[in-house]
Amino acid sequence: MPSAAVLLGLALVTTGCQSTDLTRLGMPLPASRQGQVTLSMWQGSWIAAFCVGFVVWGGILWAIIFHRKRGDELPRQVRYNLPIEILYTVLPFIMIGVMFYFTARDESYITRNPAHPDVVVDVIAEQWTWQFRYPQYALSNPKAPYRMVTEVGQMWVPGEPASRLPLLEIPVNQTVRFNLTSPDVVHSFWVAAFEFKRQAVPGFPNRFTITPIRTGTFIGRCAELCGVYHSRMLFTLKIVTPAQFRQWIRQQQSQQNASGGAQ
Ligand code: CUA
Repeated sequence: MPSAAVLLGLALVTTGCQSTDLTRLGMPLPASRQGQVTLSMWQGSWIAAFCVGFVVWGGILWAIIFHRKRGDELPRQVRYNLPIEILYTVLPFIMIGVMFYFTARDESYITRNPAHPDVVVDVIAEQWTWQFRYPQYALSNPKAPYRMVTEVGQMWVPGEPASRLPLLEIPVNQTVRFNLTSPDVVHSFWVAAFEFKRQAVPGFPNRFTITPIRTGTFIGRCAELCGVYHSRMLFTLKIVTPAQFRQWIRQQQSQQNASGGAQ
């Protein structure tokens, strides 16, 4: 089937020829419950698009094969075919209705903010780094950044030379609320495995909730062009077990207390 080959080719191109699961159609393996919903939406959209595609391609092929020019005589001209006109007015409305239903259903799930999340993280996105604060644990900044003077001005970099990137650590299978703010320009919080992005807008606090479903280390990025060092505005995301998370929090708290309290 030509369309199966097209699908395969597309999947190979979009995954950069990695040996990934082709059924995900180029999307990464979801690391959150919300990401799973986004992925099935993506897959469902492709299935629906191919169903429509088969009908359209079938119609084109049918016209090409069975309605070739048969002579110089002009064929009978058809106009104002009411049933057909009703069909191609009603059908797109039904298609849009189906897309709208699934989009609205999934979007309301993905953007849901439960009243009592297990963990709250305040995210401060600024040119060009990230700060992660854990207000429930009075943890102001696990890796306090310092200012590095660069050729174009000042740039925040994490304080520990061993890990150059700010660290965001969260527990698996718990609801994590992120409060996003920015003191300067628009940034965007993006972890590919969450299949989700959200902007950090100055003067307009944004929030979203993620429920991670597998442990691991991931790369976080800024997904909004925000200045010269936009491409370096990265962070490390660690999804750990709740026990490891509690231990890490205790360790960060004692480090913070040793260095003279909140910064
Ligand atoms: Cu911050 Cu791009």
